[in-house]
Order: sequence, then C-alpha cells, then structure tokens
Amino acid sequence: MVDYAVETIDLTKIFESKEDGIKRIVRAVDHVNIKVKKGEFFGLLGPNGAGKTTLIKMLCTIILPTEGTAKVNGYDIIRESVKVRSSIGWFHGETGGRSLYWRLNAEDNLRFYAYLQNVPKDVAEKRIDALLEFFDLTKDRKKLVKDYSTGMKVRVMLARALLHNPPILLMDEPTIGLDTVSAVETRNLLKALNKELGKTIVFTSHNMFEVEQLCERIAIMKNGRIIVDAHPSVLRDMLRDIRAVEVEVRNVDNIDRLRSVLSSIDVVNRIVEVKNDPIAISVRLQVDDEYEAIHIIADRLYSYGFKLSSIRRSEPSLEDIFVKLAREGAV
Ligand SMILES: Nc1ncnc2c1ncn2[C@@H]1O[C@H](COP(=O)(O)OP(=O)(O)OP(=O)(O)O)[C@@H](O)[C@H]1O
Ligand SMILES: [Mg+2]
Repeated sequence: MVDYAVETIDLTKIFESKEDGIKRIVRAVDHVNIKVKKGEFFGLLGPNGAGKTTLIKMLCTIILPTEGTAKVNGYDIIRESVKVRSSIGWFHGETGGRSLYWRLNAEDNLRFYAYLQNVPKDVAEKRIDALLEFFDLTKDRKKLVKDYSTGMKVRVMLARALLHNPPILLMDEPTIGLDTVSAVETRNLLKALNKELGKTIVFTSHNMFEVEQLCERIAIMKNGRIIVDAHPSVLRDMLRDIRAVEVEVRNVDNIDRLRSVLSSIDVVNRIVEVKNDPIAISVRLQVDDEYEAIHIIADRLYSYGFKLSSIRRSEPSLEDIFVKLAREGAV
C-alpha cells in the first residue's frame, strides 16, 4: 500500500451566503479526490475562484469540509486535527507579509511562533539557528523585519512554516505579488526544501509556467473540480500547440457584431475570451500562425470600420487550456 502525504476523499465545501437578500450557494470544492505521494512536489493550478485556497484551508484544518474528508500524513483532518497541524507547515502568499511582526527582528519573530507551536525552548533555539542559516538570514537576524526586502520577508515566513519540522508544506500562492527576482528566489527555495530536505510540497498558483517548471505532478482545478491530474509534460504538450493573439478594439457599440466579424475570419480558430473593459473590448483568439493572423485580423477589422487600438501575440493562458480541454471533450 502506498503511503500518501495527502489523500482527499470526496472532499467538498459548500458556502452559503446572502447577497442583497438572495441566497447564494457556492460549491467551492466539489468532490475532490487527489493523492499526493510522500516527497512529491504537487502543483494545484486554477483561475480565480477555482477553490484552491478553500481546499488548502481544509487540509490545514482551518475550515471544516461540508462533505468527505482528507488524510494528511495519515491523519484525518476532522478527527485528528491536532496531529494534522503538527504535520504541516502552511504559507499563504496573499496574507503572508501581514503575519509577521514588523517591529520585531527575524529571530524574535521565529521565537514567538516556536512558542505558539509548543516547540521546546532548547530545540527551538537550535532550529532557529539552522533555519536562519538555511535561508541565508544569519547576518540579518537582529534586523527589524520592517526593514527587510520582500524576498527576505518571504524567507522569514518560510522559516516560520518549518519551525516545528513538519514533513508536509502547504503553500497557497507563495509567489503572488512578488517581484520577478523574489519569485525566482522563492521557487528555488521551495525546490531546495523538496529536494534537499525531502519535504512534500502542495503548491497552488495561477501561473502555469511556474507550476510546469516546478512540479512533478499537476492538477488543474476549475469551479471546485479537478479537471486534469497529470505529469507536467501533459501540460507542456498542451501549451506547445496553443497560439494566441489578443486584440483591443475601442468604441464598440455592438459586441455581437465584433464577435461575428472575428469568427468569420479564416485564420481565427476560436474566440477564447472577451473582456469588456470601460475603455476598450479585448478579445483573445486562438490561431495557427500568430504572425500571419495579426495582419489578416487587423485588415479585416479596419475594413469593417472597427477602431483597433492594439493587436499582439500572446502567451498561452489558463483560459486557452480550458477551451482546448472543453473542445476535446475532457471537461
Ligand atoms: N467564506 C466564504 N464564504 C462564501 N463564499 C466563499 C468563501 N470563501 C470562498 N468562497 C467562494 O468559494 C469559491 C472558491 O474560492 P477560493 O478562494 O477557494 O478560490 P481560489 O482558487 O483560491 O481563488 P483565487 O485564485 O482568487 O485565490 C469562490 O467562488 C469564492 O467566492
Ligand atoms: Mg486563493
């Protein structure tokens, strides 16, 4: 029998909320079954509102499932939540910065959290030294966190997640909001935690390039469901043959007419997304050859009297993948 680090069993979370007196039911996580092996680097990819944070919060025992359950390090998230908590290190990119005490230095921040985690004092001191060294913070350990760069703050937060030496790390968008340099640094650190210290990592992101680069296995989530669970090479293959162009048109009074003109152009394979922004409409199109398509689309829009304000080749997006999967009947 394989020993899984994380195994979810029909894990489900339904939120009920009221907006303007109207009851709204959201299936944030809908019968999710995933298995993450010990030592695996597992990526959970999905657009806004897919359910990634809700799934991670249930695994962290911060919120309870509506239905189903999960095992983390072999412990049940509902019945054995204390054991689950001591098995995991959690990191939430969006609120991360706020969860440190900016007027304390790095070592005092870590000491305080070690105390909250009930790590014995002598063990804590040794671990803090080792973690500060691992994250290259030894020489800045007495500096106040408010004077740290973003990258350094992230390193303190990662150190904090490791204070009780958990085998499993649950990382919710750890690179969100980071500048390019800090994002690269964070990815390298996560890689090292996985490869050198053998930590199992479950990592969520919007960014498929990041996930494809880091993870050994990828699940794609949408509307609370897992629609793909595969090796990154599968995602790489999907990305390889997606060619996309983005056009921006101003002063459009009839979006349907714009849509129908665009879909009648031979080189346009399909319309992926139409965004209606206050000043312009931007449309994302899949094509076979983006360089040829740019000229043809621009000519056609001009001849129909549309005011094209920009047209450019665009990197594949998650939306492209969803359209592709839907066409192939996978979702
Ligand atoms: N406490 C809550 N009450 C009501 N609805 C909620 C609550 N938390 C999340 N939701 C809804 O559940 C769905 C999933 O949200 P979740 O935050 O898990 O998505 P996500 O994949 O993490 O999105 P993002 O990429 O924006 O972080 C969304 O429709 C969201 O509005
Ligand atoms: Mg989220």
